[in-house]
This record gives sequence, C-alpha cells and structure tokens, in this order.
Amino acid sequence: MTTDTLDIKITQTQNSRLQQTDFANLPFGKIFTDHMLVADYADGEWKNFEIVPYGDIALSPAISSLHYGQAFFEGLKAYKHADGKVSVFRPEKNGARFNKSAERLCMPELPVDLFVNSIAALVDVERDWAPTQAGHSLYIRPFMFATDPYLGVTPSKTYKFMVLTCPVGPYFTKPLRVKFETHYTRAAEGGFGYAKAAGNYGGSMLPFKKAADEGFDQIIWTDAKEHLYAEEMGAANVMFVLDGKLVTPSTRDTILDGITRDTVLTLARDWGMPVEERRVSIAEIVEGAKSGKLTDAFGAGTAATIAPVGAIHHEGTDYTLSEPTTREFSQKVLKTLDAIRYGAAEDTHGWNHLV
Ligand code: PLP
Ligand code: COI
Repeated sequence: MTTDTLDIKITQTQNSRLQQTDFANLPFGKIFTDHMLVADYADGEWKNFEIVPYGDIALSPAISSLHYGQAFFEGLKAYKHADGKVSVFRPEKNGARFNKSAERLCMPELPVDLFVNSIAALVDVERDWAPTQAGHSLYIRPFMFATDPYLGVTPSKTYKFMVLTCPVGPYFTKPLRVKFETHYTRAAEGGFGYAKAAGNYGGSMLPFKKAADEGFDQIIWTDAKEHLYAEEMGAANVMFVLDGKLVTPSTRDTILDGITRDTVLTLARDWGMPVEERRVSIAEIVEGAKSGKLTDAFGAGTAATIAPVGAIHHEGTDYTLSEPTTREFSQKVLKTLDAIRYGAAEDTHGWNHLV
C-alpha cells in the first residue's frame, strides 16, 4: 500500500474526554486522547488502517510479543503554534528509525510515508488535544508488536501497528543528580541497543530502581566491555560541553541514534561551535567537572527534551555543575528549539511537518 492508496477509516468517539481533562496537570504518559490508530500486517502487507476510540483491545494470551519481546516503539511530539497550527517534529526520522528497529527484530518494514501519514491523520483528529502551555506538547507513541498466537521462537507472520497520543508537560522538572552505571549494562556490541526494542526498556528498570533507591534521578550507561565510557543517559542521549566543545558519544550498535541529539548537533554546527562525536570517557568527564572545564551536561531526548544534569556522582563524590539557567549552550538550544517547534522562528531545516 502506498500513501496515495492509504485509506484510513475514522470512527469518532461519542464520549470525548477533552473537556474533563485537566491541562494544568499532565503527568507524562498517563492521559490518552480520545482516539488511537490501528493497522494490521497479514499475508505480507499492511492493511485495515483505522482511527478508533481509544480503549482496550482483545488479544490472544499466546501472542509472541508477550513471550519473546517481538515489539518496539517510537516517540515523537506535536506542537501547537500560536496561530493554532499543529506540527509534528521530524516524523520522517522516526519513520526511518522505526524500520531499523523492525529489521533488527525480524519484523516487517512500514513504509515511511505510511508511518508519517498515519501519525498526521491521528494528530489531525486530535488537534484540540495539543496543549498550548510553554514546554507542553502532544506526545506520539507509535509501536508495532507480533500477534501470532504461537509459542515457537520464530518471527511472527502477523503484526499490529498502533499509534497513541498523550498531552504531556515536561518529563523532568528539576536538574538531575546522575551517576555512571558501572555494574549493569543497557546494551552490548552485537545486541540491539540501537533499536527501540521493548526489551531494552524492561532490562533498564532494575538498574533505574536501584539508582533511585540510592538517591539518583538518572544513570549514565557505560560501555558493556570496560564500563569506562559514557553511552547514554536513561532513555535519552547524553551531551557535554567540555572545554568549549560540544562532545557526545558517537553512535554505534549500543546507542540509540537520537533525533534530539541530531537536532542539537545540527544547531551547534550552524552556530560554528566545535562538535566532537567520539567515545567519551568517565575519566575526562570527572576531570572536567573538577577543573571547571565541563560547563554543560544534559540528556537529549523526545520525552526528556533538554534535561540538565545538576550533579554527577562518581566513586563517592558528587560533582555539582553550574546552575542550569546560567548555562549558555543548553539555554540557547532550548530557546531556539522551542521557537522552531512552536512556530515562532523560521524552520530553516524543514523540521516541522504541518498537520
Ligand atoms: N536513547 C534512548 C535509549 C531513548 O529511549 C531515547 C528516546 O527516544 C533517546 C536516546 C533519544 O532519542 P530521541 O531524541 O529520538 O527521542
Ligand atoms: C522518548 O523520548 O520518546 C522515549 O522513548 C522515552 C520513553 C521511554 C519515556
């Protein structure tokens, strides 16, 4: 099926929850809009694209995604502009990454135009749900999972593609106290850390819980081999300003190729800032924090947006960084990004997909 033939059946709800929703209190990922998109993969093709009222779905308890984790997702956001327009941020990039995840998990590709147009159709139906407050947006969660009711460990022949949308506020509300995780590993070489596989997130919960019990807000994952190099921060990429340069771990099969990361790198290059994508050692970060050369550190992700690190803990010591509002680089990134996403500045890179 191509976009030209993408025919989405829309069934509108008779019971909108929009008026009862408290937009002043939007915890991340708990409030869903009135509708969702559902499509099926069977007999080698995608079909039955439908927008239906949000609600439970019936599934066999034997579906292989529940047993063997043949499931993955994406995360992107739509923003309401002052003139009432709504735009989705860089959905084609998420569509391309969706297919990288699909390939790694032996799941069918969804053509990027079907991915983007499915999302645009749902956001169009839900446009009144896009929040207007600063820092708020409509979070979009596309996902695919295997639906064969079969306990053999082989790729399913049938799948569902679905999209949910949630109005959300900021994911993090204060600077983060983080530590380097040097015991547990998020992803190893040859594994699927670069995919947004559901299993990557299930495996991160125990390390997160232990770190939270020790008083940390997030962990910086390190490499699986030596635990000497920073890789990512929780469910976000990690970026540093070290000695005046923007430094971030280079992407590899253990690291998700983040779209926010790419956006920040592009802005930094536009501004003529030196950028280094390379392996980043714990030692140099700690040294930079001690000497004052580490002037900025933040997580970069769709849900996280630009999440400032307040303090980095390593081997018994907390290294406190400067007050986030005084940091030149991440403040400029946040301001510029917001201006583009909310339609207040020119979108010179063509990042906004208007719905
Ligand atoms: N790394 C991981 C493990 C993530 O889950 C995410 C979130 O999507 C990111 C990085 C950031 O990627 P993006 O900026 O595309 O949201
Ligand atoms: C996102 O930023 O979209 C993510 O995937 C993070 C999510 C796991 C909360």
